[in-house]
Amino acid sequence: MSPSAWEPLLGTSQSPGRAAAARDWDAVTYDRVSDPQVAWAGRVLDRLALVGDETVLDAGCGSGRVTRMLLERLPRGHVVAVDAAPSMVEQARAALGERATVFQCDLQELRVPEPVDAVFSNAVFHWVPDHDRLFQRLFATLKPGGHLVAQCGGAGNVERFHVVAREVALDEPYAEHLGGWQGPWNFATAEATHQRLLTAGFTDVSTWLEPSPIHPPEPLEYLRTVCLGHHLAALPEPLRQPYAEAVAKRCGTPLELDYVRLNITARRPPSPSPGAPLPFG
Ligand SMILES: C[S@@+](CC[C@H](N)C(=O)[O-])C[C@H]1O[C@@H](n2cnc3c(N)ncnc32)[C@H](O)[C@@H]1O
Repeated sequence: MSPSAWEPLLGTSQSPGRAAAARDWDAVTYDRVSDPQVAWAGRVLDRLALVGDETVLDAGCGSGRVTRMLLERLPRGHVVAVDAAPSMVEQARAALGERATVFQCDLQELRVPEPVDAVFSNAVFHWVPDHDRLFQRLFATLKPGGHLVAQCGGAGNVERFHVVAREVALDEPYAEHLGGWQGPWNFATAEATHQRLLTAGFTDVSTWLEPSPIHPPEPLEYLRTVCLGHHLAALPEPLRQPYAEAVAKRCGTPLELDYVRLNITARRPPSPSPGAPLPFG
């Protein structure tokens, strides 16, 4: 498939209403501090059975570090990698070779010219506000019989950390900008996600939560880049570093982040074989 075939459809599609929760990232720092995401991705990829010649969508590819792990499992295949953040797309394009087609795209607006064999996603869906819409778009992206294998933040994810971040946000001089702000995260339960996937048309659905506490390698940089990106974007420049430092200090040392991951496997039903009886006659 020629990469240019994807361009008009994936382009930089982003509807104004849905773009509100998206933000750009510091892709260079993310690439360096994303060891926890890389470790999770290895486990998610182990759940995705591949022959090696498939076309797979990496939904929310970030800097491309994890996408490279997916490519290693596709020696004769292709990866379509999409992300909403311009800096991530730029970094992923630079990092990945010709076997990856990388586009900027909000997953809620995803449209593909040719369906893919599988969808993989690591540490992304909790940033997406509308999960019904997300699963609808991913379903439409898959060939009949294609698998969705994903992981993201689930119910209870970084709850202790967010309590601390909210406490500091109530202190001056941060309160004027952040006081009472609840953030954009969508940490869904396994049960609600299971139901949403069925409603979108998926079958063989399995969803489960898994506590996965981590000690990030560069605590302050990790917080600044991953967990506090939205907070910092809402603060004037001179307050950003002091706020991140105040949150890190109140969390204590060593920094432990109480991650809870939501795992997802699901499949688009195969097309009924010709002549097979239709459901309900
Ligand atoms: C924590 S990073 C994970 C990146 C990569 N999957 C990894 O494991 O390293 C989350 C990514 O989700 C992307 N993202 C957030 N909301 C999105 C949306 N609505 N559509 C597409 N990408 C989105 C962000 O831009 C960011 O690159």
